[in-house]
Amino acid sequence: MNLKELYQEIILDHGKNPRNLRKSENFNKDAKGHNPLCGDNVHIFLKLDEKKKIEDISFEGSGCAISMASASIMTELLNGKNESQTKEIINDFLEMIKNKDKLDNDNLNENEKTKLMSLSGVKQYPMRVKCATLAWHTLTSAVNDSQEDLNIEKI
Ligand code: FES
Repeated sequence: MNLKELYQEIILDHGKNPRNLRKSENFNKDAKGHNPLCGDNVHIFLKLDEKKKIEDISFEGSGCAISMASASIMTELLNGKNESQTKEIINDFLEMIKNKDKLDNDNLNENEKTKLMSLSGVKQYPMRVKCATLAWHTLTSAVNDSQEDLNIEKI
């Protein structure tokens, strides 16, 4: 299997069987986001401990395979991460998806980076970049306690 096939397989797997598609019990941060062009939406739930480490992260919503896969991979990789690790991973992902060939942060192992890089193919399609980044920008809103329903078109 070549890298492209591996990436497709990861997206298909997470798109069809999204991980953490549920609402976290006792969440203490959350945020909503949507894409007005297609109507897809996501609601992110975070349960942070007293040191702001992610004890649980989950999401609800509906969307295309890319947006669901991205939210699924995101929640899987960020569970257990502390605040600074979370911010570094978010920034690294958002930079990679727009204009970098690889991920640069040390908070993910190679296997985790491969999962995240499976979304790198959307780079050439601006509309698909919105799909891949919806959950991530919405997570940033949750971390920052933004009460607004994030509109991915405005980003
Ligand atoms: Fe709506 Fe992908 S088509 S988020």
